[in-house]
Amino acid sequence: MNTDKRKLLEQIRADILSENICPDLAKQATNLVMGVGSIDADVMFVGEAPGRDEDKQGEPFVGAAGRVLNQALVNNQLERADVYITNIVKYRPPNNRDPEPEEKRAFWPFLLQEIKTIGPKLIVPLGRHSMGYFLPEESISKAHGRVKNVEITKDKGQKQLIAVMPIYHPAATIYNRQLKADFEADFAKIKEIINQITKKEEK
Ligand code: URA
Repeated sequence: MNTDKRKLLEQIRADILSENICPDLAKQATNLVMGVGSIDADVMFVGEAPGRDEDKQGEPFVGAAGRVLNQALVNNQLERADVYITNIVKYRPPNNRDPEPEEKRAFWPFLLQEIKTIGPKLIVPLGRHSMGYFLPEESISKAHGRVKNVEITKDKGQKQLIAVMPIYHPAATIYNRQLKADFEADFAKIKEIINQITKKEEK
């Protein structure tokens, strides 16, 4: 089963390369930054796009924002290796500019494949860029910390409901105390939400 998941993840990477997704971004990037963590994770964090450190190291959330995320994981007795961390856009946009709508659109089907492969119980979009694709009608200031069941279209038009709780992007919390407080309060809900979903599944 796990070998299958690893093969599927490897295939997603191969497809992004062979389909030449966002060639302009690819040209400037050092690495295609795929997700990391447990392939059986209950929670999947989705950021917007790699920054400079991520591009260099080929791993999501290893720079300043990653340190905030790592600390929040530690504070909540979660191991980085036990969760799954990825981005919607998988190449660094030049000069850390925001990802363009068409870049997010181009990478979205691959994120769906990743979600389908990992099968998390809860998706936590980090910030408005990744939230926008799950909850297009929402604003992050209103939607953060609230769980919504979102219909995700999988292969062959099959639909699945999945719990989604957006939180502020870790980078946004570095210089803003209010956002940091909200981020920490929202993060502290993650384990309980997963417990509740697990209990429902067992019934
Ligand atoms: N910000 C993101 O959204 N993703 C990363 O991987 C790093 C910073």
